[in-house]
Amino acid sequence: MAGSNPLGQSPIAKADDAGIDAAVDALRAGHVVAIPTETVYGLAADASNAEAVARIYRTKGRPDFNPLIVHVPDHAAAETLARFDDRASRLAARFWPGPLTLVLPLMPGAPVASAVTAGLATIALRCPAHPVMQAVLQRSGLCLAAPSANRSGGISPTRAEHVAHSLGADTPLLLDAGPCSAGLESTIVAVRENGWQLLRPGPVTAAAIEALLGEPPLPVTEAKIEAPGQLASHYAPTKPVRLNSETAQSDEWHIGFGAIAGDDNLSPHGDLAMAAARLFDALHRADASDRRAIAVAPIPDQGIGAAINDRLRRAAA
Ligand code: TXA
Ligand code: MG
Repeated sequence: MAGSNPLGQSPIAKADDAGIDAAVDALRAGHVVAIPTETVYGLAADASNAEAVARIYRTKGRPDFNPLIVHVPDHAAAETLARFDDRASRLAARFWPGPLTLVLPLMPGAPVASAVTAGLATIALRCPAHPVMQAVLQRSGLCLAAPSANRSGGISPTRAEHVAHSLGADTPLLLDAGPCSAGLESTIVAVRENGWQLLRPGPVTAAAIEALLGEPPLPVTEAKIEAPGQLASHYAPTKPVRLNSETAQSDEWHIGFGAIAGDDNLSPHGDLAMAAARLFDALHRADASDRRAIAVAPIPDQGIGAAINDRLRRAAA
């Protein structure tokens, strides 16, 4: 694999000091690098470099209309790229660094390649908490566009092996820091003039946002798909998926939860945060099993359970 990548390095590197320095050098040279965050592994590139951003789209096989999240080291860097009103500032102060992405009005003249926003007047910004992504952001001084590090439409990666399996030698460098702690993609909130919208449920719950802002979310109309992550069939395994299954057929791999043991259990004690952290790994394993199809036990819809069920519905669509 090492021979087919432009940097001539082994694709998987430990996320230690040397690995982080190599990632910074590669990013400054306009290459893509797969980097862990607390949600999922991202495929990062310099957001200001159009050629580097084009490499993300090419590597993922991503449709052009799907804009990217830009990762920033802190709130100050974010304010150079987008306009923050009072609500946006409160959300950032409360939930950054962390698994929350804010969709905000793009700052005119912001140093961001146009392919990052796919021509929208808004930009999606996230300040991640993972120490490895933070170190890369701080040391490089770059803002990094990074979608999940999987081929477009596939299951998001929560381990370095998932990235290697999905993107193979097309990732010149992959920093391995073990499994992601949250395991589901960030919550995406759009801050509009007249309120806020939940574009993608995630580890920061809608209830926590509503409690902070003191107002319920505005409805999201399906007619205008601004976040193609919201397309019905996203995160799809290659096999049919059946939800809310207390039992499984003999040709189904059963993903259990709580007392429903299954072939694999997301959390024997019924802990939803643990289930979220393990969900994509379990889907990857189910997809790789020798069974024809996948059945998944019912998951309570409370708290982060809402985000788990959102991803499961898309996996089953
Ligand atoms: O946890 C995460 O958010 C991971 C890590 C790597 O940060 N990233 C991630 O990126 O999930 P991606 O590309 O798989 O999903 C980004 C979502 C897409 O659904 C995209 O359509 C939406 O963000 N998005 C990006 N910019 C947007 C904008 N200006 N308005 C609305 N949606 C936007
Ligand atoms: Mg994705």
